[in-house]
Amino acid sequence: MTRRMSTERIDIEISTAVINRAYLPLMVAVTGAAAGAELSDAARRWHKRYLLMFGGRGSGKSRAAAQAVVLLMLTGRYRVALVRKVADTIRDSQWQEIRDVVEAWGLQRYFRTTVSPLKIHCTRTGSTAVSKGFDRSEKIKSLASIDFVWIEEVTELTLDDWRQLNFTIRGRNPAGRNRQILMTFNPINPEHWVKKAFFAEGGSLERAADDESTTILHTTCRDNRFLDRVFLTELDKLRDTDPDLYTIITLGRWTKLKGLIFPAYKTVETYPALPSHYYGLDFGFSETSPAALVKVGARVEGRKKSLYIDEALYMPGLSPSELIEQLDERIPPADKHVAIYCDDARPETIKEMRRAGYNAIAWKKGASSVYEGIMLLKMFELNVTETSVNIVRELNLYKWKEDRSGNQLPEPVKKHDHSPDAIRGVVYTALASLVREPDDNPGAVCASRQSVAVA
Ligand SMILES: Nc1ncnc2c1ncn2[C@@H]1O[C@H](COP(=O)(O)OP(=O)(O)OP(=O)(O)O)[C@@H](O)[C@H]1O
Ligand SMILES: [Mg+2]
Repeated sequence: MTRRMSTERIDIEISTAVINRAYLPLMVAVTGAAAGAELSDAARRWHKRYLLMFGGRGSGKSRAAAQAVVLLMLTGRYRVALVRKVADTIRDSQWQEIRDVVEAWGLQRYFRTTVSPLKIHCTRTGSTAVSKGFDRSEKIKSLASIDFVWIEEVTELTLDDWRQLNFTIRGRNPAGRNRQILMTFNPINPEHWVKKAFFAEGGSLERAADDESTTILHTTCRDNRFLDRVFLTELDKLRDTDPDLYTIITLGRWTKLKGLIFPAYKTVETYPALPSHYYGLDFGFSETSPAALVKVGARVEGRKKSLYIDEALYMPGLSPSELIEQLDERIPPADKHVAIYCDDARPETIKEMRRAGYNAIAWKKGASSVYEGIMLLKMFELNVTETSVNIVRELNLYKWKEDRSGNQLPEPVKKHDHSPDAIRGVVYTALASLVREPDDNPGAVCASRQSVAVA
């Protein structure tokens, strides 16, 4: 299908040359029918209020959403909001994605972007895109006049966040159509509120709860002809190495994973006041392996021991000096003396961190400590702040390995383990004593005691 959106000055080809086929009807819907023409049924589906694009990793959802926003902003004078749980993550995701589309289509003349505040302005139509994070929820009310919302990774939001937003966005846009909420995400556990709110029990993937107000599109990496081969091979490899992860990550289906290591963690709204805390850091300097910095504190009430965990940093591709810049931004000056337990794989970086004034301490992450460290962690109730979106995502995927017959092995799958490893470093090194009393689960305690002494 080829359509052209022509104006006196701009001519963008809405075709499979630049847009993945599955998303073409969305693009046609946002730009409206050509003069005198009727929109096809496929395009009309995308005029509903709730638009869900979900599925496997790398299926082109985010790029397509950004393309739709650019086309919408060029077509009329619209107010768009880029929404995500954590405001600070919008710049590297939606905002950047839109800039990439503007650049790929050579539209720089018509768009101005600013970082502070994080905004996009279309000089041709007067459309604007603002950004809103739900970690600063008092600002959500200001979305009342927004015509089109793109929520990236909507599963990061709580049901309360969603209700607040849904209540705020009402009425019609300047073209007389529904104000719309476009949600892009990868599915997780079927218990999630997004599944319950939008997907009919037993409904098909494609049009699960497609009704008069909702349109749902499911895509996988097969729908993205622009995907890089290396990523595609990684996604395919999971079929042999871990069929469950293949189903959830590659096929993008709601899946209750078996063998999760921490199935019972809880989320809390805020990190509480605690007498002390530590940081844990898992290094990762490549594009695929992020540096994960977590803040961990413990609360002991009688026999109940709770850990509170907050995400301080989760970012791939940092050089050692960039990592230190990030620490300067993320760790408050009053915390500079607080111990940061780092995996011992990067002694040079640990030295650099110490030179920069941080109390970086190496701990031995070696294979023998993994099981014991996990068992120690399991003796605590785990409470993760709801803004810790990467910790939550990893805990939802961090699972035990299985042998060929499907028996669980006492060893985790070495994926989605960056935050769990960082948390484990703190607990194994600094907090193990809290669960060491001899009458408190003696089996696990003895197992940990020896290696803690060695560590
Ligand atoms: N129309 C397109 N033109 C050029 N590149 C594209 C296009 N669509 C997708 N890509 C590229 O394919 C890759 C994956 O796309 P994208 O990030 O949109 O997928 P996703 O479904 O959002 O992935 P995830 O599930 O990981 O969020 C990116 O590198 C993106 O730039
Ligand atoms: Mg995406």
